[in-house]
Amino acid sequence: MTRLDKLLAQSGRFSRSEARNLIRAGRVAAGGAVLTRPEERVDEGCAVTVDGEWINCSLYRYFMLDKPAGILSATDDKKQRTVVDLFPPEIRRLGIFPVGRLDKDTTGLLLLTNDGDFAHRAISPRHGVVKTYIASVAAPVDAGDVRAFAEGLTLADGTRCLPAVLEPLEGCRCRVLVGEGKYHQVRRMLAACGKPCTGLRRVRIGALELDPGLGEGGWRELRQNEKALVFSSSRDNQAPDLYSFNKET
Ligand code: URA
Repeated sequence: MTRLDKLLAQSGRFSRSEARNLIRAGRVAAGGAVLTRPEERVDEGCAVTVDGEWINCSLYRYFMLDKPAGILSATDDKKQRTVVDLFPPEIRRLGIFPVGRLDKDTTGLLLLTNDGDFAHRAISPRHGVVKTYIASVAAPVDAGDVRAFAEGLTLADGTRCLPAVLEPLEGCRCRVLVGEGKYHQVRRMLAACGKPCTGLRRVRIGALELDPGLGEGGWRELRQNEKALVFSSSRDNQAPDLYSFNKET
């Protein structure tokens, strides 16, 4: 149980004093009943409305963003725009941060949340959540590159990578699936095969797909079932070896 004004302010839509004023004005209902005392204790999971509009008061919130190129995966930066700057103030106020990083020039699926445990699970190598990318490369990838990815590449600086999946696509494009997140990993893996990456877009995390309707810079809150998709994998698109190391933990 928690105070109604605290719960309403948790939404990020109202300050604590705005919440108190709305409640005293009789504009707030919790669990279907209008309550006029800010200190009234209500169930954290109850439905809260203001003027009949449902307000999301959940403590932890989860968003997907179609990250555009040229934006930093960070919460704030003195000089450059960050992914958090793409959200309105009422969402920024929730304390969201990016779940892992995409390089400045990489586009596509980036999750943002204020749930540290969720973020940790999604990026920790121990959980091996598989990320899927579409890459444009300077020259088409071939069977030797596919084999090198499957065997586990060694990068130019000697770093060993876990087995990964490389699938040639039409022209100079390919799909890459990796279960770890080393610095510039996909770009460095492709470079190690002599196929420098000219464009990179993340399209999937676990079994959660980037919503194609968002468009670059677009974002939306995750739907109820989508959070769990991050930690599940779909066999359709993943080679058995990658699938099994994702399941080991
Ligand atoms: N690998 C990269 O090289 N860059 C990214 O942004 C993500 C994965």
